[in-house]
Amino acid sequence: MTAQLLDGKAIAQKVRDEVRLDVARFVAQHGRAPGLDVVLVGEDPASQVYTRNKEKASIEVGMRGRLHRLPADATEEAVLDLVNGLADDDEVDGILVQLPLPKGINEQRVLDAVPASKDVDGFHPLNAGLLSAGRPGLVPCTPRGCMRLLAEAGTKLQGARAVVVGRSNIVGKPIAQLLLAQHATVTIAHSRTRDLAAVCREADVLIAAVGKAKMIQGDWVKEGATVIDVGINRTPEGKLCGDVDTAAAMDRAAWITPVPGGVGPMTIACLLENTLLAARARLGN
Ligand code: GUN
Repeated sequence: MTAQLLDGKAIAQKVRDEVRLDVARFVAQHGRAPGLDVVLVGEDPASQVYTRNKEKASIEVGMRGRLHRLPADATEEAVLDLVNGLADDDEVDGILVQLPLPKGINEQRVLDAVPASKDVDGFHPLNAGLLSAGRPGLVPCTPRGCMRLLAEAGTKLQGARAVVVGRSNIVGKPIAQLLLAQHATVTIAHSRTRDLAAVCREADVLIAAVGKAKMIQGDWVKEGATVIDVGINRTPEGKLCGDVDTAAAMDRAAWITPVPGGVGPMTIACLLENTLLAARARLGN
């Protein structure tokens, strides 16, 4: 079998087009655009690119997007003042504090200042709790994007065996919850799982979110599986690659996401969806 590529770039564009229509409807109804406020502290080059892209993407779909920048030596109090101001601002629907924050700033304390209702990253304990209880709330963007990719591939989740490799609060755990809610039988594996290869070979749906270049080998993939590769790593030669050895896995998988161009573009598209959901929920619909 040769896998079909799950084109995240094209599907993300479709999501953005959907959001653009919904934003126009929101503006007609409420007389203002949904507002996304992104906070960047410091000069991390990757974070600068990500936050600029988030600001740009929000404006492109008709939202009010703003990027707030603080210097790398900003105090924790200064960051908290900014986030608290956004929390109190009625025109702000979504707040995203780009991670990592510079050393010396208590990340947890800053994230806790983002109210659950504006938590478009889905990191707030209340949103994590709602997700775990199977109740509506704001779901982290990357997991949301992965579920959309599975839906677009037509992957049957009910009764399927899903293996999530990685147990982070941002990706692994929330994806596992979402798969479970769709009636998959979910295993969460990680770096200390015994015989990880054998666990992966059971997977009809394999989600790789470990952050280790090409760790998941081709012969770990079940024949006909759908493989979602969340990893963004660099090879020793400096090339971008995922957590899966994609070329080898393609001989066995039915569907696989490329890196780049798979999960990556979905994350920002789903951030836009979350901002719209937050805006609607705040205004009571
Ligand atoms: N840094 C890397 N990924 C993310 C993310 O999804 N959200 C935030 N806030 N920061 C990040």
